[in-house]
Amino acid sequence: MSKPSPSQGLTSSKSTAPLQRHIVATVSEIPPGAKKIVEAGGRSIGVYNINGQFHALRNVCPHQGAELCKGLVKPLVVSHSPGSFEYEREGEIVRCPWHQWEFDIKTGCMIVDPAMRTKSYEVTVEKFDVSVEEGHVIVHM
Ligand code: FES
Repeated sequence: MSKPSPSQGLTSSKSTAPLQRHIVATVSEIPPGAKKIVEAGGRSIGVYNINGQFHALRNVCPHQGAELCKGLVKPLVVSHSPGSFEYEREGEIVRCPWHQWEFDIKTGCMIVDPAMRTKSYEVTVEKFDVSVEEGHVIVHM
């Protein structure tokens, strides 16, 4: 994978300023199924390896601010009929340690439809682009 030059640096959707690159780990430090919580750009970030693909989430739950990335990583539990359930997408869901809200690590979105709640909250976790370059995991923010 080639390195993006400063002139072709990634940009944030909220700003036209080039994103900063933060080397946060070597690839071998985060094998498939593992995660590492790092500090980058003054923020705590959870970097996950799901089947060889890296994903980075802000380590702050949008509900009440718990360290989301310290939560258990689980499969998605689905039910197609009463009394039965199945596990899907093993290792792709993080459950907040405080009140058990669950988020999709790949998208940062809450699993449960927020419209089902009586009070609305911000239900998307800030997510960052991640690349792998020369054996290092790079978070762009
Ligand atoms: S702080 Fe995460 S679910 Fe409440």
